[in-house]
Amino acid sequence: MNILVATAEVTPFAKVGGLADMAGALPKAWAEDGHNVVVILPLYGTIDTEKFGIVKTDMLVDVPFGTWTEYAEVWHGTLPGTTIPVYFLRSSDYYDRPGIYGYHEGFEDNDRRFIFLSRAIFEVARALDFRPDVVHAHDYHTAPCMPMLKVHYHNDEFFRHTAGVFTIHNMAYQGMYDPQRAMEFCGFPASEFYTGSWYEQDGIFNAMKAGILFADKITTVSPTYAQEIRWTPEGMGLQGALQSRGADLIGVLNGIDAGTWSPLHDEHIAVPYDASSLKKKDINKKALLKEVGISASEMKRDLPVVGMVTRLTEQKGVSILAACIESFVANDRFRLVILGSGEAKYEDLLKNLAYRYPDHVRVGTGYNEPLSHMIQAGSDFYLMPSKFEPCGLTQMFALAYGTVPIVRSVGGLADTVQDYDPITFTGTGIRFHRYTGEALQQALETALRLYKREPHWSHMRRNAMAQDNSIVTTARRYVEVFGWAQEARR
Ligand code: ADP
Ligand code: GLC
Repeated sequence: MNILVATAEVTPFAKVGGLADMAGALPKAWAEDGHNVVVILPLYGTIDTEKFGIVKTDMLVDVPFGTWTEYAEVWHGTLPGTTIPVYFLRSSDYYDRPGIYGYHEGFEDNDRRFIFLSRAIFEVARALDFRPDVVHAHDYHTAPCMPMLKVHYHNDEFFRHTAGVFTIHNMAYQGMYDPQRAMEFCGFPASEFYTGSWYEQDGIFNAMKAGILFADKITTVSPTYAQEIRWTPEGMGLQGALQSRGADLIGVLNGIDAGTWSPLHDEHIAVPYDASSLKKKDINKKALLKEVGISASEMKRDLPVVGMVTRLTEQKGVSILAACIESFVANDRFRLVILGSGEAKYEDLLKNLAYRYPDHVRVGTGYNEPLSHMIQAGSDFYLMPSKFEPCGLTQMFALAYGTVPIVRSVGGLADTVQDYDPITFTGTGIRFHRYTGEALQQALETALRLYKREPHWSHMRRNAMAQDNSIVTTARRYVEVFGWAQEARR
């Protein structure tokens, strides 16, 4: 199958969150199964072209935009360790600047930047003579690919067999744009925008809604989230649109790339280990504590370490953590190591805790890939108290590293972590339900009771490591969906 991936993030070139991991890992798994994949991504100013061997080609594509034509240089690279082509769009107007989305509010012209990307992918495919069987678009950034496929390319001989699949990674970001600008940039008549039209939500242009309504098939990143967004406020106002496509909306659980996330082959951690050598996790724990500045004398006291690696946004549950953490750290119950970046109020809150409890709370800010691996390997527990979670990858990394996840039972967290049952010795972690500080506190108490309590501790960690969350399964499921999308297109 010829798969064209249109995305705003791909690891390791440009990453903010899990979208990048998925957009980087799926193509590898597809290629290994014999599919042809082309990935298209903007050449952001922050991408290190030299480091990744990204070079300019002599292709300059004409991109129909509004009623005029714009141009993008096409640069070429490959996903590291593979021959899978990644084509980068270089445009000094849109992407030659630091950052992917801009600071908290986003760049003012994000509508234009991402609508341009959505349109350009078709023209790059044509210039490459790559006839896609499926265009796979991700999140609001490339959602406009779905209406564009139907409006501009449906009768185009080149895209005769192309179906559109739209994957929702997060309903919280929908691409709500000024309708006049967005319709014009997309090349759609202004008259197609009216109350109740497929582009409109609450009076403005909604890229996510258009993606949902025009796609041949829609997927989201876990089965539970697929239900939540249709029937609960997690649909963030688009429940109606999602219900109208209910039969075409499929939950495909994310997976992880064992090439990057395996404790036996992880170049960032102190000592490799697997389920038969879990003792070596202690060495990784010491290495982590040293890395974050816990003194040698402090380290002699063996406290459980709870780790977190996360974007700091409301989604990730920092507020309920803040509501209950102090009694634990003030009473010497565990150490908390957090790597996070995002909203200043959460960074400040965590730094303040670290300032007051330097032996118990350590906070890393900024994007730090090596430290994110050290936290997975060196922590005893991994905490994810999310308010909502479409899927979540870091709890799956934790499972693979034998680090017991403590999660709120929502979205993909409910699909990937099973409560440990001390009677049957089954389950992989600790779950809680209500989004409150008290509920989290109780879950942490449960975790502390199980810490090093045998035989439960060993069972829990081994069960976690035995769980298969491979991207290979995920990738095959997508191919199945792509097949259904093709049938729907005809
Ligand atoms: P989300 O996509 O909502 O942020 P996921 O759990 O799906 O959540 O994916 C987050 C990804 O981003 C993981 O690969 C995680 O390790 C990584 N990550 C998040 N914050 C940081 C950080 N500060 N430094 C390094 N990696 C991070
Ligand atoms: C989103 C979600 C996260 C998911 C990731 C990759 O950013 O917040 O839950 O794992 O996308 O699909």
